[in-house]
Amino acid sequence: MNSTAQLPVVRTDNLTLYFPLPKRRGQREAQFVHAVDGVTMSVRAGERLGLVGESGCGKTTLGRLLVRACAPTSGSVLFQGQDVSKLRGQTLRQFRKQVQLIYQDPYDALDPRRTVQACVAEPLEIHKEGTKQERDERVRHILSQVGLVPAETFMQRYPRELSGGQRQRVAIARALVLNPTFVVADEPTSMLDSSVRAGVLRLLADLRTQYSLTLLYITHDLAVARLVCDRIAVMYLGRIVEVGAANQILQQPLHPYTRMLLEAVPKLGRQLPVSRLRQADAIRQAINPQPHCRFLSRCPIADQECHHAQHPPLTAYGGDRAVACYKVAATIDVQSQA
Ligand SMILES: Nc1ncnc2c1ncn2[C@@H]1O[C@H](COP(=O)(O)OP(=O)(O)OP(=O)(O)O)[C@@H](O)[C@H]1O
Ligand code: SF4
Ligand SMILES: [Mg+2]
Repeated sequence: MNSTAQLPVVRTDNLTLYFPLPKRRGQREAQFVHAVDGVTMSVRAGERLGLVGESGCGKTTLGRLLVRACAPTSGSVLFQGQDVSKLRGQTLRQFRKQVQLIYQDPYDALDPRRTVQACVAEPLEIHKEGTKQERDERVRHILSQVGLVPAETFMQRYPRELSGGQRQRVAIARALVLNPTFVVADEPTSMLDSSVRAGVLRLLADLRTQYSLTLLYITHDLAVARLVCDRIAVMYLGRIVEVGAANQILQQPLHPYTRMLLEAVPKLGRQLPVSRLRQADAIRQAINPQPHCRFLSRCPIADQECHHAQHPPLTAYGGDRAVACYKVAATIDVQSQA
């Protein structure tokens, strides 16, 4: 795929979302979690962009901002060139049809009191699509597309009567029934057994081709990102620290954090050991963080410059690659002069 020729479906400009924390007694300064902190990025038409990083780094918050499930503190999200915060009335309804979120837990999307048919038909009803008969036909078709066959045997069942993998397939059917342009899939397989995970991943890959979807795929697992994604963006404490073609990032990671993540997943299919990597001090740094590099306290190659400079800007290094690290710039300069 020639990704450089593709136009962005979604673009963010210096996007931030700070969550206020309750003030403690005697505390003078207000505290904010900088969940997303100055993110400028694009998702190109038809691509599968992986968003990878440890727990608490802001992946879900960024995904939710892109589909206007929450509002930013500052900065903007452009969808097909339009600022999503300014959409109203018919254009907002159109946007809601075109973007969808697939959750980690299918119960976040499925009402346990409604049948599979009612759950999947609901977006069609909300958007007043077709007649009752056309909607039923569309539900039957999409259930078959997600591998729930014969569809009739699933339509009158309740989510609790399905396996975890089947429930996630119903949630995917619900997200795709309106034929969206852009889908954010937030760790859609992380709650599934490994035996059904591969099937749901294959399904997402097939559906993306059939529906010409643009996909933001959020995951902890670099091995999954390798299977699913064309490009990967690596996030650390609210910031994108490296972005590039998936094979480049996985074969030749430049940012020390990406290298650390890769060292934690030496084998394809092995899940990132989140508990080992999750560090209370790292999470704390997202609260009113210091201005210098967010990765400073864990960085094995930090030097004096890193202690005194601001967080490095995301800088392009040829082709599709961009990295936020002063030392990477230095290494590349030395190599190019050699
Ligand atoms: N509604 C909220 N109020 C306060 N803080 C929040 C809220 N939602 C998220 N946060 C904080 O924002 C930061 C980013 O959270 P987010 O859920 O986006 O991370 P994540 O990368 O998706 O993590 P995980 O991999 O565990 O799902 C975390 O420190 C989290 O505690
Ligand atoms: S800028 Fe410095 S502290 Fe930050 S990742 Fe690069 S070397 Fe490490
Ligand atoms: Mg999350």
